[in-house]
Amino acid sequence: MTKQTKQQGSSADRVLIFDTTLRDGEQSPGASMTLGEKLRVAELLDTMGVDIIEAGFPIASNGDFESVTEVAKLVGNAQVCGLARAGEKDIDRAGEALKHAKNPRIHTFISTSPVHMKHKLQMEPDEVMEAVAFSVTRARKYTDNVEWSPEDATRTDPDFLCAVVETAIKAGATTVNIPDTVGYTMPQEYFETVTMLRNRVPNIDKAVISTHCHNDLGLAVANSLAGVQAGARQIECTINGIGERAGNAALEEIVMAMNVRSDLMAQWTNIETTMLARASKLVSSVTAFPVQYNKAIVGQNAFAHESGIHQDGMLKNNQTYEIMTPESVGISQSSLVMGKHSGRHAFREKINELGYELGDNQMQEAFVRFKDLADRKKHVFDDDIIALVDDEVAKGVDAVKLVSLRVISGSEGPQSADLVLEIHGEQHGVQSTGDGPVDATFNAIKALFEHDAVLQLYQVHAVTEGTDAQAEVSVRLEEGGKTVTGRGADTDTMVASARAYVSALNKLIIKRQKTAPDSDSAWSSVGRVSDAK
Ligand code: KIV
Ligand code: ZN
Repeated sequence: MTKQTKQQGSSADRVLIFDTTLRDGEQSPGASMTLGEKLRVAELLDTMGVDIIEAGFPIASNGDFESVTEVAKLVGNAQVCGLARAGEKDIDRAGEALKHAKNPRIHTFISTSPVHMKHKLQMEPDEVMEAVAFSVTRARKYTDNVEWSPEDATRTDPDFLCAVVETAIKAGATTVNIPDTVGYTMPQEYFETVTMLRNRVPNIDKAVISTHCHNDLGLAVANSLAGVQAGARQIECTINGIGERAGNAALEEIVMAMNVRSDLMAQWTNIETTMLARASKLVSSVTAFPVQYNKAIVGQNAFAHESGIHQDGMLKNNQTYEIMTPESVGISQSSLVMGKHSGRHAFREKINELGYELGDNQMQEAFVRFKDLADRKKHVFDDDIIALVDDEVAKGVDAVKLVSLRVISGSEGPQSADLVLEIHGEQHGVQSTGDGPVDATFNAIKALFEHDAVLQLYQVHAVTEGTDAQAEVSVRLEEGGKTVTGRGADTDTMVASARAYVSALNKLIIKRQKTAPDSDSAWSSVGRVSDAK
């Protein structure tokens, strides 16, 4: 694969990409991922050239602890980071989760704005100052790669901000991150904040300044770039911009802005841009967060030209309406791949070309499904294969399996579903009715495998064009405050729906087995320094 990264510039202009899809991204309601999904995302981020992967918040839950531990074991190139509040327990838990990482980073934070200190922490500024020194010093016991953040920095008193940053660096922080936690700042103001820190903090040259911008006013990317122009050399961002509320700065937009406008920005990143579309698809698929059609860089319409004038211009020269090529971000014109006569060898090559590595069993199952699909569908495109393989990869050692489904629908109700499931190795069948075919299918699943989970989301999307397109269905279930997302693909929308529901159920069964003692309290209180010492 040819590197599409921008011509490398001077090392002083190199900007580190710190991806927090697995931490801040996963904090968006409904975006929770299973361990297996997090590992797939982490592997892709690592291959793509992300410098630091924030893999979770180890004190928040056993699941987060495990994901930081496993990502740390898996990742070969990137630094792996765990988040911790200012307390001793948080930092020790992060240190423990990172013990297998080749290059571990602890990211510790505490709020510094008046509103947060008063109402959230109920701490005086001098207590916060003490906590800063304490937490960074403690984190340095585990690694010399310590990042520190003043949460709500952009609403913090400037003198106090300079003082806490100086204290953190004196205690050993090697990166100081300046979060626009509530997405409040504007590009010029953020530029000035970073400039102020560079001018007024005497030891600032001992740390890398980082940006962390939320998108509440739609300015996260612009603010991050302004921070870089003022001297920040790390950007915190997420794939597709997912994250708390309106999200974080979108990695793909930041990277391509610097790449396309290298005439204005000398700064560069190490990201392999041809992997951006794939990363976007993977994160959208595992979270069931759709990418808006007109989303910059990775939206379905980002390179579509509808109006006659534009199409005419494009035919004459694509630079008339395109500032970057779709190929540069990994979007290939939908290619016809294979038909029912394609063999196992060609299929394996295609799978590898699409960036997957499957074990023998997964390959065999994917091949059987591909043959079945090619029998039913006239043209099989790359996107069909991706949907099918994603489905296979998402499967674990499933307690519940779909064996068969027959649905009767039509204008004369009630609609009914005849379903057979394999549950713990035994087949069970049932017929159920419902208000429509999807309802009948889901009622049948509930009748065979009783549960109290509530359906939060049911979403259908066509993988390609045409009436024989595969339907890709996402289902989100919620039980006791925990959410799981399942997906399924098939040319039959009801079969895809049943697969998605069953896949979510299997994840729920695994989740039930893992307890999460501190998860609900982790964000509602910030370990007071008094219990930290
Ligand atoms: O937005 C924020 O302030 C954060 C911090 C934990 C860095 O996510
Ligand atoms: Zn954040």
